[in-house]
Amino acid sequence: GLPGLEDRYGRVATDMRLSLTDKCNLRCSYCMPAEGLPWLAKDALLSAEEIVRVVGIGVHLLGVRELRLTGGEPLVRADLVDIVAALRAEHPDLPIALTTNAVGLDARAAALKSAGLTRINVSLDTLHPETFARLARRPFFDRVLAGIEAADAAGLGPIKINSVLMRGINDADGPDLLAWCLERGYELRFIEQMPLDADHGWTRDGMVTAAEVRELLSERFHLSPDARDRDGAPAERFEVRGKDDGALLGTVGIIASVTEPFCADCKRTRITAEGKVMSCLFSHEEVDLRGLLRSEASDEQVARRWQEAMWLKPRAHGMDHTGLGADGFVQPDRSMSAIGG
Ligand code: GTP
Ligand code: 5AD
Ligand code: SF4
Repeated sequence: GLPGLEDRYGRVATDMRLSLTDKCNLRCSYCMPAEGLPWLAKDALLSAEEIVRVVGIGVHLLGVRELRLTGGEPLVRADLVDIVAALRAEHPDLPIALTTNAVGLDARAAALKSAGLTRINVSLDTLHPETFARLARRPFFDRVLAGIEAADAAGLGPIKINSVLMRGINDADGPDLLAWCLERGYELRFIEQMPLDADHGWTRDGMVTAAEVRELLSERFHLSPDARDRDGAPAERFEVRGKDDGALLGTVGIIASVTEPFCADCKRTRITAEGKVMSCLFSHEEVDLRGLLRSEASDEQVARRWQEAMWLKPRAHGMDHTGLGADGFVQPDRSMSAIGG
């Protein structure tokens, strides 16, 4: 049949990231403005049926092997559990993960597990409720913790925690976050802040780099490279050992999107909540599938349009120091919340 989601640089996308909504109940400053954004109308979003169809096209015609549901905040969608159940009914063996802020997850973790969700990644940038409220601009720290605990109890692990450190705001929290995650068996990943905030306030100096994270953690822990194959994953993993006795405590990941980019091995294809293919987080070209999904077009026609979109995938984002277009970097119009992370 059709070949897969190949781009002109020879990469093949097998990891599909589907945004379920552009809305979110938090306002993290690295992602969204305080006042929010003009949300998409409900009928602009792909419906549950359209989602099931487009995932089926990805899996059956285009070689998609892994699915991640993102947002905005996917829990904002009232039909999330039904969507997961419908996807699971069609794809018994597909890994289906969720990236969430965990607000409200306590009430739905068990249902998501029964519906067939495989695992979750949760954003958590601090263990201090005041810092949380300042960063996320909502006082929901306790709700996030309750969500994580419920997900753990429901068996939605191994749980990964995503932290974006920001200079002078939560950078000092890094080692405590790691200790907290190690105690609970969660895999923490520190993510370099990318210029995907709606306010266009990102600066290179404000970004806490991967090198700085390693240095910060080394004050309390001993890090050594994890031997497991990275396999195109954003996170570089390290084994974490205690400084005194050298006992293995677990692993930590560092996602150095800016300073040590991993674009050459990228396996990701993204679909926004309104059904546009984004071949890259930083792509300026978007290709609409929703129009086709709402027409008489066949699955093969939708698949071909998706392939055309991936052919436009840039070689790299170009904001690092490797010279791949560093001077020409232009921040895309969409913020992280409107892409899906
Ligand atoms: P798993 O490791 O399989 O759990 O997935 P993941 O790390 O891809 O999941 P997650 O959604 O938690 O992504 C973590 C963060 O990595 C994202 O929020 C982004 O900041 C970053 N990231 C993920 N994919 C990309 C990518 O394609 N490009 C860049 N530059 N950053 C990415
Ligand atoms: N840079 C890096 N990561 C970001 N996230 C949101 N905005 C940014 C950004 N500007 C992360 C969140 C969440 C995931 C979906 O994306 O921490 O874990
Ligand atoms: Fe892939 Fe684009 Fe992310 Fe690079 S920036 S890893 S090419 S999605």
